[in-house]
Amino acid sequence: MEKIALEDRIFNPPADITEQANAKAGIYELAKKDRLGFWDAQAKELVTWFKPYDKVLEDSNAPFFKWFINGKLNVSYNCVDRHAKSNRHNKAAIMYESEIGKKVCLTYGMLSREVNKFANALAGLGVKKGDRVALYMPMIPEAVVAMLACTRIGAPHSLVFGGFSPESLRDRINDCGAKVLITADGNFRRGNPFPLKQNGDKALEDTPTIEKCVVVKNAGNDVAWVEGRDVWYHDVMAAAGNYYEPEAMDSEDVLFILYTSGTTGKPKGVVHSTGGYLVQIQSTLKYVFDIKDEDVYWCTADIGWITGHSYVVYAPLALGATLFMYDGTIDYPDKDRMWDMAERYGVSKFYTAPTAIRTFMKWGTEYPKKHDLSAIKVLGSVGEPINPEAWMWYYEHIGGSKAPIMDTWWQTETGAFMITPLPGITPLKPGTATNPFPGIEVDIIDENGNSADVGYLVIKSAWPAMIRTIFGDPDRYVDQYWKRFGKYYFAGDGAKRDNMGYIWVTGRVDDVLNVSGHRLGTAEVESALVECPEVAESAVIGKKHDIKGESVCAFVILKEGFKGSQELIDKLRKHVGVKIGPIARPDDIIFTAELPKTRSGKIMRRLLRDIAEGRAIGDATTLADPGAMKDIAAQYAGKED
Ligand code: WTA
Repeated sequence: MEKIALEDRIFNPPADITEQANAKAGIYELAKKDRLGFWDAQAKELVTWFKPYDKVLEDSNAPFFKWFINGKLNVSYNCVDRHAKSNRHNKAAIMYESEIGKKVCLTYGMLSREVNKFANALAGLGVKKGDRVALYMPMIPEAVVAMLACTRIGAPHSLVFGGFSPESLRDRINDCGAKVLITADGNFRRGNPFPLKQNGDKALEDTPTIEKCVVVKNAGNDVAWVEGRDVWYHDVMAAAGNYYEPEAMDSEDVLFILYTSGTTGKPKGVVHSTGGYLVQIQSTLKYVFDIKDEDVYWCTADIGWITGHSYVVYAPLALGATLFMYDGTIDYPDKDRMWDMAERYGVSKFYTAPTAIRTFMKWGTEYPKKHDLSAIKVLGSVGEPINPEAWMWYYEHIGGSKAPIMDTWWQTETGAFMITPLPGITPLKPGTATNPFPGIEVDIIDENGNSADVGYLVIKSAWPAMIRTIFGDPDRYVDQYWKRFGKYYFAGDGAKRDNMGYIWVTGRVDDVLNVSGHRLGTAEVESALVECPEVAESAVIGKKHDIKGESVCAFVILKEGFKGSQELIDKLRKHVGVKIGPIARPDDIIFTAELPKTRSGKIMRRLLRDIAEGRAIGDATTLADPGAMKDIAAQYAGKED
């Protein structure tokens, strides 16, 4: 028999899922016939509006699209009140476990009280509708409470991933002019407290707009205290009233700002709005993960990323689901920690990233085998293309060869899933995100904008959860996403189409790296490196990595009078870690005398990737100095010895 390549194998939807799935056959045709009618129906079914909208989409000022015009709603009301008022009052909303085994369960009724109280507490600290609130938090229930309390007041939040450095936090606070920072004393990492507040304090040395800092007592580590600025979460909660009237927000009011890396050194504050976002995140989670009341849903993303916003917090709560969250490392105290918790909490829907799957794969099947994972019905993957081997391993060893894998393609900017299978409908192939979600129009186009089987991934029409602008910089929004192909949104990814019409996303085609599913701009790392007095110039590339997908690899030209050494490598790596955060630290630093540049001065990263990944060097004819490549390759070979 001829052997079928992994990526050509087809896995049909399991009959038991198809029979009772939320997404029924015909959903694609329905949405295709009347795209806006589809979103209109989703909006009516899934959102409780204080005032109905007049119109589904306003596109007269493209690319500044508006959805659900004049509708009024409140996200915390949709995520909490409406369930607390229903027979879900005593249903678990959040089940939480910390690394050291602390457990918390909040029912919808309890969550509602916490959110109301914290909204009052924030209001007491002077937070009003429209004010920005920064969060620098571990994965603890208080973080969810804080996010929801912000939405109750109508104060856009800006979460900064806890792994980011004080400088990164400071820049993000200053860019959006946040009034309050919410953080925690610390959280546990491999059994030791990580001093989150200490980092926060450093950031706040230079943030003129911050008036107050609310601190959750979590790890119990010692903290410094600034009288008049710092307040304990438990103190303000104890004094807060039990009810806060949810603000009636306009559908287009800003819900949150989330910074993400782009092609320049300065991260972009992606602005999301209220109505369209709440419609699409719910619709996608309901259909793609087939959410039912009896589910225990676990998305392992950190709340500091878009996946944490949309699919740890807002979508599952808006749907009235039970979510599980864990704050800690995935191999503490042992490499079966995740599966131990999946078994103990009866997780039925599990969503994680390829980089984690490859790590589990490396550790071996003995760890998942120790646990009964039979409750798992649907699996998901996000963050980067999943390689077919990792897909198969996930399918067999976590899903027991019965749970379909939803490979979801989307971005911080899209807010919600865009390309994804549906569990009861789509035949799967390992490694492809398959088809656009109903109501989403995607294409692959060539340099000239014509539809093609290989090329650039674009989104052809507006979608409800789309980015509205870049905070404080609408021109950059237009330039970044809409300039290159006119009326199409350019995602920055390359893609190809197979003989079934499925879309295979092949990765970024711009100067953005994807390290363990985390976005990093090459320019960000380069500007951190050139800050060091020894460095004249640098070029950063993503080098293929078995676990992380890509690792950061930096080519560095030193200033006259400096010599490369292991000591200097350590120093530069450390500097990037301090400047941006540990995820940005280069794995490789190669000192070189030159960089391959075109005659117009643009660095040809493609050629550097060829060197780093050990390939024959590609076409170098456009180089200003064609000899440069030989020297760089020799330098690189020297480093490998
Ligand atoms: C990549 C994360 C292939 C892609 C939600 C995108 C993926 C970037 C997938 C966005 C996937 C995410 N298959 N590539 N299923 N999911 N990506 O903004 O390059 O952190 O542009 O959003 O991750 O990363 P972001």
